[in-house]
Amino acid sequence: MFNSFKSRRNICEKVLVSGIKPTGNIHFGNYFGAMKQNINIANGGEYESYIFIADYHALTTERNADNLRKQSLEIAATYIACGLDLNKVILFKQSSVPQVTELTWIFNNLITMPFLMRAHAFKDSEAKNSEVNVGLFDYPVLMAADILIYGGDLVPVGQDQKQHIEYARDIVGFYNRAYNVEEFKLPKELIQKEIGSIPGIDGQKMSKSYNNHIELFCSNEDLKKRVMSIVTDSANPEDKKNPDENNIYKIHRLFLSEDEDMKLRAKYSNGGYGYKEAKENLLKVIMKWREGKKEKFDDLMSDENKLVKLLEKNGNLAREVAEKKMEIIRKQVGLV
Ligand code: TYM
Repeated sequence: MFNSFKSRRNICEKVLVSGIKPTGNIHFGNYFGAMKQNINIANGGEYESYIFIADYHALTTERNADNLRKQSLEIAATYIACGLDLNKVILFKQSSVPQVTELTWIFNNLITMPFLMRAHAFKDSEAKNSEVNVGLFDYPVLMAADILIYGGDLVPVGQDQKQHIEYARDIVGFYNRAYNVEEFKLPKELIQKEIGSIPGIDGQKMSKSYNNHIELFCSNEDLKKRVMSIVTDSANPEDKKNPDENNIYKIHRLFLSEDEDMKLRAKYSNGGYGYKEAKENLLKVIMKWREGKKEKFDDLMSDENKLVKLLEKNGNLAREVAEKKMEIIRKQVGLV
């Protein structure tokens, strides 16, 4: 099954790299912000695609080993259930490639603390007075290593990751200048402009840490509870409403074609479209979207061993590519 991926290295000029942290179940912010693009581009076959489960990054916050293992498999199952073509992509665990931590260490020596202190994630954690661990502080460097070790050109991500890609680009310059080489190329982010940041049920950015998210494959009861608790104003059903200020609409539109979107917008602005009806319609749309996918997800999760083997096999392929790169890097920096 994966041999066909191997041969892609010779036919694809460009490389796609993208990761998701296994710190909870996948939600629609992850899906519409990054996964959907990853799947479409990878399945299109023009890119040599590396999609991974960022379990090293998850260690910055996750302390429960069983959760980490399980959540990692859930990401793999989610990708497959949502249609990722395993013949066109290498789907693996970040930790199958310890070479990324080696490259992170090499990069660490080329950057300064003030450079990393500008990172939003670091500043947010500090503002909350939480004690920032060194892993979290170094997070952008590990992410740069993830992208650069495979020679990533394109990195589909949500708006919140933009700064991390900028860090990766800066690190390309630091390395190439320090060793007077043209070893790493500049990666570019792909952010869906019109959706950039997907709101959660309270209107803030959808995030596991705000607990305002809607999971792709939660139970039907949980899905209903989440959708029905989307925060709205107190307008009456007959009132005319501005869709762009409405949390139900902002989530609903993600599932629609342009034409369907226009029709939904008109319902809001004409009046006579109450929030209860709007939520029920959104629930129907999500249920329809899940048809077939949730069953596939549940089926994949019922045989965890099979997923473990698949990830191991793919991890070996990714590691081979990374090791080749590191052989060059070790020579350039003088380790061998
Ligand atoms: P993570 O796990 O937080 O999120 C995975 C992807 O989902 C996107 N996303 C969103 N997009 C739009 N609206 C939202 N509300 C929303 N919530 C999440 C994120 O932008 C991301 O693209 N650091 C990364 C994982 C990572 C990575 C990488 C990504 C590690 N190495 C290398 C790309 C390349 C992260 O924590 O994503």
